[in-house]
Amino acid sequence: MYRTHTCGELRASHAGQTVTLAGWVNRRRDHGGVAFLDLRDRAGIVQVTINPDLPKEALDEVANIRNEWVLQIEGAVQKRPEGMANPKMATGEVEVIAKRVTVLNPSKTPPFLVNTDADLPDENMRLKYRYVDLRRERLTRNLVLRHKMIKFMRDYLDKQGFIEIETPIMFKATPEGARDYLVPSRLFPGQFYALPQSPQQLKQLLMVAGMDRYFQIARCFRDEDLRGDRQPEFTQLDLEMSFVQRDDVLSMVEGLFTEMLPAVAPHKKLFSSPWPKFSYKEVLERFGTDKPDLRFGMELVDVSDVFAKSEFKVFQSALEAGGVIKCIVASKSAEMSRKELDALTEVAKSLGAKGMPYLAVTAEGVKGSVSKFVTEAEAAELKSKTGAGVGDLIVFASDARAVANKTLGGLRLWFRDKLDLADKTMMAFAWVVDFPFFAFNAETQVWESEHHPFTMPKLEDLPKFETNPGEVMSDAYDMVCNGYETASGSIRIHRRDIQMKMFQMLGLSDEEIKTKFGHMLEAFEYGAPPHGGMAPGIDRLVMLLADEPNIREVIAFPKNQNGRDVMADAPSEVEPKQLKELHIKFS
Ligand code: AMO
Repeated sequence: MYRTHTCGELRASHAGQTVTLAGWVNRRRDHGGVAFLDLRDRAGIVQVTINPDLPKEALDEVANIRNEWVLQIEGAVQKRPEGMANPKMATGEVEVIAKRVTVLNPSKTPPFLVNTDADLPDENMRLKYRYVDLRRERLTRNLVLRHKMIKFMRDYLDKQGFIEIETPIMFKATPEGARDYLVPSRLFPGQFYALPQSPQQLKQLLMVAGMDRYFQIARCFRDEDLRGDRQPEFTQLDLEMSFVQRDDVLSMVEGLFTEMLPAVAPHKKLFSSPWPKFSYKEVLERFGTDKPDLRFGMELVDVSDVFAKSEFKVFQSALEAGGVIKCIVASKSAEMSRKELDALTEVAKSLGAKGMPYLAVTAEGVKGSVSKFVTEAEAAELKSKTGAGVGDLIVFASDARAVANKTLGGLRLWFRDKLDLADKTMMAFAWVVDFPFFAFNAETQVWESEHHPFTMPKLEDLPKFETNPGEVMSDAYDMVCNGYETASGSIRIHRRDIQMKMFQMLGLSDEEIKTKFGHMLEAFEYGAPPHGGMAPGIDRLVMLLADEPNIREVIAFPKNQNGRDVMADAPSEVEPKQLKELHIKFS
């Protein structure tokens, strides 16, 4: 038997017992002939004390031991002397007095320290030696949290009558707005499988198959630009339900996460129960984004009417062009330096604004870039409409409505971070509903589906399909939390005629519809039930619960920011023989 206990489980109640432990040396300290080895395993860290009364050969061996060596220790658990307990360690009340030390495997000097998160090495270095990096307490904690969350999901959904069904990874293109990863076929020259961007089609086919309530911890593959909250392969809790309407799906998912929070992340608070529900239009107007962070106020205020007769050219021309003047109020920011305001203006420009007019509210009146154009009456009305007081900074965006919203939405988050406005213990879940069905792509001049092409339009909007596609609303919904889109879903099309119309609107020819989606259309002719579902992104949710800045910190072996696996060095070249078998030639 390698061990009788884990390192992390020892407490004062174990005092007096002889135990055998196995683990890694987290840190070594030498003190007047006594060596202290902090021994670490997944469960935690315990202090092992090596007294000089051990046999000489044992002490000689101990002298060589360094960080990350793998040891087996037999010893007696002892309560630490009065005043020597370490309240920062779960095992801090005890130490293990070693009787026997066995080196199971030495280690080269590790590429970086894992016993501290100060001075983290370059991320590529961490990912190259990910098996060492994962030994960090923080990353171990993240993976344990991820496991608990997934286990909770499985248990909860099982109780609600869902069954877990696996679907193929080698399949046909399932569009979710990204490029596909393709797998060349050896048996069928020139033909390819596509890795699923999501199991969307398959879960709908499972509804046609009568599975009623399905879920899967599903891996999805998307070749798209990477960001902190995006990986080329990621995991969804994919679920689908038959004979449901929108609110049935929402209340299922709301129940799941509301109950999960105290069970897996008791340090987090739920912002509101029931969760707030907004229309897409409303969140854009109030927060400037379709994934609002509700943990703080600072909502966008439309002040177009205050400046209807403004002398300020920029405001005038925005209104004349049919645009709006909106603003946000940043408290205690009237004194921001010129340099900070310039930096902020650059942020506004990167979001599409042409500039960033602002006013600082001071005891002597409003000051700032547009103050000379603002009359006293306008200033008074502005203050009363926005609630701005002395010491506040009012930042404007005057532009087309969409640009103004996007600009202020971004600046709102900039102030959140600068002024530390968001409570980090809060999970502000909310629903966003009533999305437009189509988005017009000005570049390609075609209508694209805002969600995915299997989403049901609001039935009363069907007549507008040809006449006014921009006004067609869909039965789609997003779950958002703390400024992230954490899930999306919809009620699906289950009628062949509507699905056909949808594909045609997207500019697909009859031939393309048949080759790409013929199987879906055919399935809808064999008794497809009304159905809907959604897919929470597991990586993003663990990231939020673990207070991590990106999803790579909650994935065991993520790709780096360029989409490479730097540990195994993938993607990599393959043998010419393999290429030949796959009928692939590079010119
Ligand atoms: P969607 O494409 O919105 O919907 O994805 C659902 C959720 O998955 C997460 N997500 C990602 N996480 C990490 N890296 C990525 N590249 C990535 N892309 C998406 C997000 C997102 O909210 N089939 C539909 C769902 C449905 O309609 O049921 C779908 O995949 O958290």
